[in-house]
Amino acid sequence: MSKRILSGITPSSEKGLHLGNFLGAVTPHLEFQGQGECFYFIANLHALNNVFDPEQVQNNTLNIFIEYLAFGLDPQKTTFYIQSDIPAIPYLQTILNNAVTVAELQRMHAYKDKLQNDVSQDAINFGLFSYPVLMSADILLFKPDIIPVGEDQTQHVEICRDIARSFNTRYGNVLKVPELYVKKDVARVPGIDGKRKMSKSLGNDIPIFADEQIVKKQIMAITTDPARIHPTDPGNPEKNVAFSFMRLLEYNTIKSDTMPTLEDMEERYRSGTIGDVEIKKTLFTVFMERFSEIRKKKEELKHNMDYIIELRKKGAIRANEIAEKTIEEVKAAVGVL
Ligand code: ADP
Ligand code: TRP
Repeated sequence: MSKRILSGITPSSEKGLHLGNFLGAVTPHLEFQGQGECFYFIANLHALNNVFDPEQVQNNTLNIFIEYLAFGLDPQKTTFYIQSDIPAIPYLQTILNNAVTVAELQRMHAYKDKLQNDVSQDAINFGLFSYPVLMSADILLFKPDIIPVGEDQTQHVEICRDIARSFNTRYGNVLKVPELYVKKDVARVPGIDGKRKMSKSLGNDIPIFADEQIVKKQIMAITTDPARIHPTDPGNPEKNVAFSFMRLLEYNTIKSDTMPTLEDMEERYRSGTIGDVEIKKTLFTVFMERFSEIRKKKEELKHNMDYIIELRKKGAIRANEIAEKTIEEVKAAVGVL
């Protein structure tokens, strides 16, 4: 039997998806499309713990929905939906709240990080605290086999697995315990600072759909080998994250014939015969080349909102059929039929 794959993405930024999202989330999601029965969704209820402007929630949700389609999500092959269209998700969350302890949730990184950043417990909403329970409901309702996510989401999926086991211990074998899948080399794409993971909230991201000038500004701001002051100084390509981005984008397969190979540029970097500006400009050129069709596709889709709304409805119908079946089983198991 073919495997069932499920994953989601939170629409918490108005800037849309960045290179880290693309490599760490979108690409593995799309790779699974030919291999099994995929369920992908936009987790707009998850966004509510930190996006409080309703218009922004609405816009971000549709924006990322459209971006996924532009990247090549095929709604014929994949059940693609918006989380808030599935009423059984928050219903299951309420039930699952009883299968996890406060202590377990307190160990969650997202919560601990927030506490460390000078925020007191008083300032953390329960939506953030209960984030993994909502995520567990997203997952367990569909009984998937595999959950592909970036490294930062692995703990949430582990909590989900624990919740499923606790639930099953109490009520019998109702929920399926899914497997986690993290694509190794792109699990943690670095930001333009070359240090921390690329993240929209850190501002160290390269947005894929932003105005060309914004993309350029971010690429030109990439941190390079600090020991190298002049273009004639020998440099270490390992310390220039622009090279990592080129490798991740498979530069050599995109570049035009007149452009140097990645290995040529690295060699010239080591011997001090190429400047950082030239490297960044080259990265900018291939970046725009790599995403030009996708950017165009997004523009087209944005002007076809009837089609988008139709897809949203169809996705919700398909997803609800499965979700409703599971929630009935769960209700029967806990005694609230
Ligand atoms: P951000 O950190 O920018 O807020 P999200 O938390 O919304 O990104 O992540 C959305 C998806 O993209 C998740 O599956 C996450 O694991 C993946 N992702 C985000 N940033 C990166 C990164 N730098 N490298 C790899 N995957 C990432
Ligand atoms: N929390 C994930 C993110 O920020 C999105 C998400 C919500 C998710 N529910 C999920 C991912 C269930 C995998 C499975 O990207």
